Amino acid sequence: MWDYTEKVMDHFLHPRNVGEMPDADAVGEVGNITCGDALKLFLKLDEAKKTIVDAKFQTFGCASAIASASALTELVIGKSVVEVEAISNDDIAGFLGSLPEEKMHCSVMGMEALQEALANLRGESDGKASDHGHAHGHEDYDPNGLDRIVCICFSVSERQIREVVRNNALETVDQVTNYCKAGGSCGGCKEQIDTILKDELGRMEEEDAASTEEGTVSEEKAPLTNLQKMMLIQQVVNDDIRPGLQADGGDLELVDVDGDRVVVKLKGSCSGCPGAQVTLKRWVEAQLREKVLPTITVEQA
Ligand code: FES
Repeated sequence: MWDYTEKVMDHFLHPRNVGEMPDADAVGEVGNITCGDALKLFLKLDEAKKTIVDAKFQTFGCASAIASASALTELVIGKSVVEVEAISNDDIAGFLGSLPEEKMHCSVMGMEALQEALANLRGESDGKASDHGHAHGHEDYDPNGLDRIVCICFSVSERQIREVVRNNALETVDQVTNYCKAGGSCGGCKEQIDTILKDELGRMEEEDAASTEEGTVSEEKAPLTNLQKMMLIQQVVNDDIRPGLQADGGDLELVDVDGDRVVVKLKGSCSGCPGAQVTLKRWVEAQLREKVLPTITVEQA
């Protein structure tokens, strides 16, 4: 017996929004009854075709499939099309508290039905996910592309395997089986699944490394040219330093910039102030170090 949460049991025993919807604006149908699980999702939208006002489903599957489909309808009703585009299988499982890992493929089926319905709404699909040349009829068999069937028993394509690996950070063939059923019957496809899994993980690692490198490069500031440094010093003096001094009756004039050495002349009440050196170091130099370069030193002319 699977260890189901109370919410899974509730949605299995009392599924919400079951049935057909003859006037649906979008339909998403995935799975194949001959393979075990199938789900048909119907969506009804408001007049502006922006918000989902109703959803229904029909499914052929286990308790988790029924609960996942029921949860999916609850998740989408009242939400905008844009909002539901981001719904993942994790969101469906999360809505139910959790699902046993061996049953995660039911939540994936819900996500796929939703994606199919949204594609149907956009006019990109007839609402039926391609059967990918199922074992019992190889009409669309694509031996080279991502839509080629890898698992004949459950009609799972290479594209579907790569997507569950990527979307759920899967690391083993058994996990792939749990999330999309591929490999869960005769096991004849497991070697291929392993190859695809390793390749996809390798690609993900490369992408991570590339984005980390990109982040590092963009975080590293290019060194300032002399002209840029002088202009920035002038800007900080005018915008951040002088107003503070002027508020106390003093002022400051920028005399020279020589490398990281900045020469200034204190004016007004600052010029004769016994704490002038402290002002120079703790206020002027500190500001320039923080906003221009940490190596700057400030001296009085
Ligand atoms: S071909 Fe995949 S389990 Fe049989």
